[in-house]
Amino acid sequence: MNVKEAIAERRSVRLYRSEKPTRESIVEVLEAARLAPSAVNRQPWHFYAFASSEKLSRLSEAYARDWFKTAPVVIVAVANHGESWHRGNDGKDHADVDLAIAIDHMTLRATELGLGTCWVCNFDASVVRKELGLGENEEPIALMPIGFADETEVVKPKTRKGAGEVYTIEGF
Ligand SMILES: Cc1cc2nc3c(=O)[nH]c(=O)nc-3n(C[C@H](O)[C@H](O)[C@H](O)COP(=O)(O)O)c2cc1C
Repeated sequence: MNVKEAIAERRSVRLYRSEKPTRESIVEVLEAARLAPSAVNRQPWHFYAFASSEKLSRLSEAYARDWFKTAPVVIVAVANHGESWHRGNDGKDHADVDLAIAIDHMTLRATELGLGTCWVCNFDASVVRKELGLGENEEPIALMPIGFADETEVVKPKTRKGAGEVYTIEGF
């Protein structure tokens, strides 16, 4: 699968089979995050991959959706605002930008490996903070369930704004 195919094929998977992906495949996905670019190469992140049913059950308290509980593995992407680059002229913190890139690398690598993922940001951060014992500068940015897509999921067709609305090309 090339990058174009992975981009086209990736979708939010919201129902998983119980079969657990191998540890090796999860390491491959985490490597895609580790190699991602970040502002001033600060790499202000840590990624936790959880597969034990006890841990997943506690994490699901942060995002109470039945489909989320079907995920055999959840990756939690955590930013460290003490490490991230803050732009000099206005102090803008680039942690969110950095984490978004790394997380999306993971979704694409997972797609290539035949695994489904979903970005989840609508969670209770206080539950995740407590569960992971995060420090003051640390912030959970996204939960990423990962596993094999259950084929019985009803999937809506991809809808996107048209090219004319989204980009402008000049000077070619
Ligand atoms: C930053 C971000 C946060 C998201 N949070 C959630 C979420 O909390 N729950 C959820 O079900 N989907 C979430 N999504 C998935 C989007 O709804 C989904 O990507 C979008 O509808 C496009 O569908 P697709 O991923 O299947 O292409 C999130 C996506 C992004 C990029």
